[in-house]
Amino acid sequence: MFAVSAVRIDPKDPLSGLELGERDEPAPRAGWTAVTVKAAALNHHDLWTLRGVGITEDKLPMILGCDGAGVDDDGNEVIIHSVIDPRDGKPSILTEAYDGTFAQKVLVPKANLVPKPAALSWEQAACLPTAWLTAYRMLFRNSGLRPGDTVLIQGAGGGVATAAIVLARAAGFRVWTTSRSEEKRARAVELGAHAAFASGARLPERVDAVMETVGAATWSHSVKSLRPEGTIVISGATSGAMPPAELTRIFFLQLRIVGSTMGSLDELKALARLCEATDVRPVVDSVLPLSEARTGFARMEQGEAFGKIVFTL
Ligand SMILES: NC(=O)c1ccc[n+]([C@@H]2O[C@H](COP(=O)([O-])OP(=O)(O)OC[C@H]3O[C@@H](n4cnc5c(N)ncnc54)[C@H](OP(=O)(O)O)[C@@H]3O)[C@@H](O)[C@H]2O)c1
Repeated sequence: MFAVSAVRIDPKDPLSGLELGERDEPAPRAGWTAVTVKAAALNHHDLWTLRGVGITEDKLPMILGCDGAGVDDDGNEVIIHSVIDPRDGKPSILTEAYDGTFAQKVLVPKANLVPKPAALSWEQAACLPTAWLTAYRMLFRNSGLRPGDTVLIQGAGGGVATAAIVLARAAGFRVWTTSRSEEKRARAVELGAHAAFASGARLPERVDAVMETVGAATWSHSVKSLRPEGTIVISGATSGAMPPAELTRIFFLQLRIVGSTMGSLDELKALARLCEATDVRPVVDSVLPLSEARTGFARMEQGEAFGKIVFTL
């Protein structure tokens, strides 16, 4: 079958380890099912894998792709919860221990399947399991925000950030965001943000919570933008994981820093229901055939995307 794999690790030139070509179809396994992939979304996690973050060379070649939607062995239209929880080891997400979704077929535990929301296209459905699920948990489990509160979302153009903008707006929060790009700031406002600021700009007032995925480049701004006893929810550090700590401000203003990763199967089901019940729809930057995956990876690496890059089969 055709697949897109990581075959080499290179922290400086991640795309050099990307291979497009034929791989064996997955062998059947008790309790697991082969999903015929219709669409699969790209995540920054796939670039981290090519850079050797969260994986070691001995696990390669590894088929990439944490997100997917398709048709299971029984003909059901499904989305795949990417968190694999084997009884004999620690949980991982697809592409860490098991092959991912950038292939004609992907083998996953039957328990990881969620019915595809009929209201969503294949391309939209493929966006839910990683970036959108992560934004859902950040906002609705970990932020402590209530309708009417103000949230700052750093790095407006990202997959998690665009999800957070749409979900936060739907939840009745006042939504502020930052971006390095004027064009992305304008698009964020079109998407539902109440205001968009240049990265690092002083805000009109302090916010109740910050959704942080950018890391070193925005961390100080996140800490300084928060009201006393406010909450920063952090799930990523794209620009680096060693920012100035701002420790004095954190303890003096009694700020809460909450780590957040992915979400549960139940949260993914709730997110799917939210899409069915409302006009919330994943933000798709571009759709490419899987055979043109290299173009999509380059677009993400260069920080050009606004929303999710999706591959179709
Ligand atoms: N813990 C989890 O479960 C989990 C789940 C999903 C993602 N993540 C992590 O969260 C991060 C974001 O993921 P993603 O898929 O949303 O990535 P993405 O789509 O590539 O978005 C990254 C965004 O970060 C901003 N950015 C990057 N470098 C920046 C810099 N130097 N200064 C300011 N802003 C910068 C950009 O926003 P602008 O161009 O608009 O400024 C960019 O759009 C990644 O590190 C990923 O690994 C973690």
